Amino acid sequence: MKVLVVGKGGREHAIVWKLAQSPQVSKLYAAPGNPGIAQLAECVDIQVDAPITQPDKLRAEILRLRDFALAQGVDLTVVGADDPLAAGIVDTFRERGLKIFGPTAAAARIESSKAFAKELMAAIGVPTAAHHTFAHSAEAVAYVRQQGAPIVVKASGLAAGKGAVVARTEEEALQAIAEIMDQRIFGTSGAEVVIEEFMEGEEVSLFALCDGQHYCLLTPAQDHKAIGEGDTGPNTGGMGAYAPAPAMASELVAQAEDQIIRPVLAEMQRRGCPFEGVLYAGLMLTTHGPKVVEFNARFGDPETQVLLPLLQTDLAEIFLAACEHRLDQVQIEMSPRAAVCVAIASAGYPGKVKNGFEIEGLATLAADEDLLVFHAGTALKGGKLVTAGGRVLNITALADDLPIAVARAYEGVKQVHFEGAYYRRDIAHRALGRD
Ligand code: AMP
Ligand code: GLY
Repeated sequence: MKVLVVGKGGREHAIVWKLAQSPQVSKLYAAPGNPGIAQLAECVDIQVDAPITQPDKLRAEILRLRDFALAQGVDLTVVGADDPLAAGIVDTFRERGLKIFGPTAAAARIESSKAFAKELMAAIGVPTAAHHTFAHSAEAVAYVRQQGAPIVVKASGLAAGKGAVVARTEEEALQAIAEIMDQRIFGTSGAEVVIEEFMEGEEVSLFALCDGQHYCLLTPAQDHKAIGEGDTGPNTGGMGAYAPAPAMASELVAQAEDQIIRPVLAEMQRRGCPFEGVLYAGLMLTTHGPKVVEFNARFGDPETQVLLPLLQTDLAEIFLAACEHRLDQVQIEMSPRAAVCVAIASAGYPGKVKNGFEIEGLATLAADEDLLVFHAGTALKGGKLVTAGGRVLNITALADDLPIAVARAYEGVKQVHFEGAYYRRDIAHRALGRD
């Protein structure tokens, strides 16, 4: 089977790495991929990861990729990133009979439009933060003044995981509204804001691989979104992750399935946009049980870099079964071991970063099968590996328990060097009881 993976981050590297182990996969392509992915797959220079804020470019690249898939006889395509999903890559591929794992644009609204997701949850009583949506900043400001802080302000559209501001004070909330709606720092994604009740608790990422009707769950994982240690500072795409997340015991998983996953799948089906692909429930484990922070319509990054190394089932078979609507016949098995991933970022991330610094130290890591390197923002320049983005590399360690996995991940991280490299030193701190 020829498989094409869409994306260029650490998540896609992990997907490609896992697919490469499948006896069913004879050829792997990635678009556009990265230097790490290039060791396992043929990279195709089609930039399907263009932001949704450039819809014409994104659309043109999706059509180019579809033609590529047709010409090469690609049997299955898997989409990592959210922008092409929101732009309808799944619809476009299916129109020409291509098999593709992911939600249609209509189903991807569960991520691409927070307003849609909130309305859906309200309609079927899925537990989530109380919220209001505003299309005019003056009304949003008045609402914040009335509610006070802490309060959460979010751009309604996609914003690379950076569109939510947890405001501790009223001033912070007002500033967020001004930046999102008036200054449009996230472009048209800020045409509306969602203002939410602040939820207190531990956050867990729960992934359901769905075929529209059935689903298979992966072990709950925990991500570290803030840039700073102790979960301080601005949010990023994710600075590290670990799994399993002991905060989410099996009773809570069962509760989330009953109150969140199953009702959402049934409602999406009822509305004529059945959800196929990865339903990523970002959950807050509150004193009243799991509540939805947000849904994503794709794998998490960096959660995928810990979950797929723990997955023992053939990933190609899972994707194929999902595309053929027979996930009820698949039993997912996860290793009982623990996995920890630490992201190494460029100085300045999640703000502006400088690229082009040489990366050293990866060669010594390659020998250890419990230490994995997933590339994110890297590039080859004159035969050298250099930095090329905010999050540069992910180091994942596997071990029999979490404390050992943490220690091993950091041993790996310390061997990697580039100018301005930054990483959080407290990944998995909550599970280690250091909080
Ligand atoms: P989102 O962009 O919706 O994923 O939000 C980004 C992050 O902001 C989440 O991962 C949470 O850490 C935090 N957050 C979002 N909404 C809330 C909320 N209602 N209460 C508390 N924290 C939140
Ligand atoms: N890990 C957060 C995300 O993928 O959105």
